[in-house]
Amino acid sequence: MSPALMILGVSIIGTWGVASLGLVVGGLFLIFWPGNPTTDSGALTGGIVLLIIGLVSGGLMQWCVMPLLGIDPPIPMRAKNIIPFTRMNKWARAGLVRDLPDGLPKEVRLRSVRVTLIREGDKVYALSGLCSHARLPLAGIAGSPIKPVPIQDECVMCPFHGARFDITNGRCVRQPFSSQFNNDHPFLGRFQEKLFFWNKGAEDVQTYPVEIENGEIRVALPK
Ligand code: FES
Repeated sequence: MSPALMILGVSIIGTWGVASLGLVVGGLFLIFWPGNPTTDSGALTGGIVLLIIGLVSGGLMQWCVMPLLGIDPPIPMRAKNIIPFTRMNKWARAGLVRDLPDGLPKEVRLRSVRVTLIREGDKVYALSGLCSHARLPLAGIAGSPIKPVPIQDECVMCPFHGARFDITNGRCVRQPFSSQFNNDHPFLGRFQEKLFFWNKGAEDVQTYPVEIENGEIRVALPK
């Protein structure tokens, strides 16, 4: 996604999100602090209506608009949904090995599936494009300050909250918000850990079979 589109998208989502939050907060105020109950008899009804509109608006933003902009709802992905290699036989071309940066994750879309490609020398690995913690892109967001993190010890680190995954099998080897990550990243780590009080875990991620033929990468996708 181009940086301009990303800025536009984030602005729309930000404005929409603040408006939804305002409706929810306004609704809660009317419900819990209705003023004079004899003269403000409609406050409770008004509060409930505002609250419902705010929640529906926020939900619509999460579920409809954010995916259109390439941002998925921040709900965890479960390892139990990982598809075995035996059920992957739709091969898709994924470009040339020499065009991939060595040791740096890169996201590609293969038949609408988001895949993280990782090259280490002449080997290429393919993992889910999204981190299992909150469905944010493992390779960061192009044009934003959240950049892909170089591979270390055959592991890719999610640049958002620091979960680490083995690139050879998708195993989660470090959970998000580790003390080391939080110390190095006060905003993405320490601060966001409080926002993600309801979701602090990451599970193993999907991997895909990869073949290289004459320098061209092919990735198998589910049937
Ligand atoms: S989205 Fe990857 S660690 Fe949170």
